[in-house]
Amino acid sequence: MTERLEKLEKEISAELKGAAGKQDVLGIKTKYLGRKGEFASLIKDLANLPPPDRRQAGEAINRVKKKAEQEIAKLLEGFQDEEKKQRLTREKLDVTLPGRRERLGRTHPITQVLDEVIDISTGLGFEIAEGPEVELDYYNFEALNIPKDHPARDMQDTFYIAPDVCLRTHTSPVQIRVMEKHPPPVRIIAPGTVYRRDSDLTHTPMFHQVEGFMVDEGINFGHLKGVLTHFLKRLFGEDRDIRFRPSFFPFTEPSAEVDIQCVICRGSGCRVCKESGWLEILGCGMIHPEVFRFVNYDAEKFTGFAFGLGIERIAMLKFGIDDIRLFFENDVRFLEQF
Ligand code: DAH
Repeated sequence: MTERLEKLEKEISAELKGAAGKQDVLGIKTKYLGRKGEFASLIKDLANLPPPDRRQAGEAINRVKKKAEQEIAKLLEGFQDEEKKQRLTREKLDVTLPGRRERLGRTHPITQVLDEVIDISTGLGFEIAEGPEVELDYYNFEALNIPKDHPARDMQDTFYIAPDVCLRTHTSPVQIRVMEKHPPPVRIIAPGTVYRRDSDLTHTPMFHQVEGFMVDEGINFGHLKGVLTHFLKRLFGEDRDIRFRPSFFPFTEPSAEVDIQCVICRGSGCRVCKESGWLEILGCGMIHPEVFRFVNYDAEKFTGFAFGLGIERIAMLKFGIDDIRLFFENDVRFLEQF
C-alpha cells in the first residue's frame, strides 16, 4: 500500500508539471480525485488490509490526497489568473469613449395630425368608433344613398375583393355601422384608412380620413357650423377665415364644402389656392333622411350632421408639403422635419 501511494504521489506530481492549461488540470483532477479515480479505489482497497493497519494507511492516503487537491487548486487558480490577464490585454476597453446613442423615432406627421384631430373632437365630447377597411358594398355605398348605378360612384372607384366587397373609399360607412347598433343620441368620430383608385401629386391609393357625426333631437346646421368652426380654428389657428360653400353628397342634404383661407398667401391669391385665396378642406352636411331610413332612425324626430376630412390634405396644408407621396416613402430625412 505504501509503495502504491508513493508511486501515485510521484505520478500526480509529474502529470501536473506537464499540464499546459486549465483543461489538462481538470482532466488530472478527474483521473485521480474523481468518483472513480485512483484515490477512490485505494480507499476501497483499505478493506483488504488487516484491521490494525487500516488506520495508518487511511491517514497516509488522506495526506497524499489533500496534497494533490491543494496543488490542483493552486494550479487552477494560476491558469485562471493567466487567462484573465490575457483577455485584458487582448480586449482593450476604453471606458472614456462616448456611448452609441439609440436613434429616437418620432411620431409620423400623419399620426400627429390624426392625434390632434382626435384630441380636439374628444374635447368636444365625441367618442371614437372604428369600422373595417374591407367593407361591404352595402355600407360603403348603398346605405349611404349611393345606389349601384349612381354617378357618385365614379369619383370613388376602388379595389374590389368580390362583387359586393371592396376596400372602403371613405370613413362614412362607419356612420351606418354605428347607427345600426346605437339609437340616438350619438356623437362619434371615426378615424381610419381608406382606399381609392387614384395616384398623383395630391392622391395616393391609400390615405386617411376622419368622419364625424352627431344625431339627436333638434340638431341643425348651426350646430354643424359651430362645431366645424371651432374644430378648424383649433387646427389652423384662430385668425384663419373659414367659409361654407353649397355642395352635393348623396348622404347629406343640404351639403356643403368648407374652405379655409389659403395657408400660403392668407387670401391674397397664389399658385397653391389657384388665385382664389381659399383651400377646400372638408365635406359636410345634414344627414339625409334616406340614410336614417336604412338604419331605422325616425327622421321625423331626429336630425344630425356629418363631416369628413382627409388627414393627408390637412397635414400638407399645415406643414406646407406639396407632394403627398412623401408621407409614405419613409425617408427619415423627410420625417425628421416634423
Ligand atoms: N365621404 C366623403 C368623401 O370621402 C366626405 C364627406 C362628405 C363625409 C360629406 C361626410 C359628409 O360625412 O357629410 O368624399
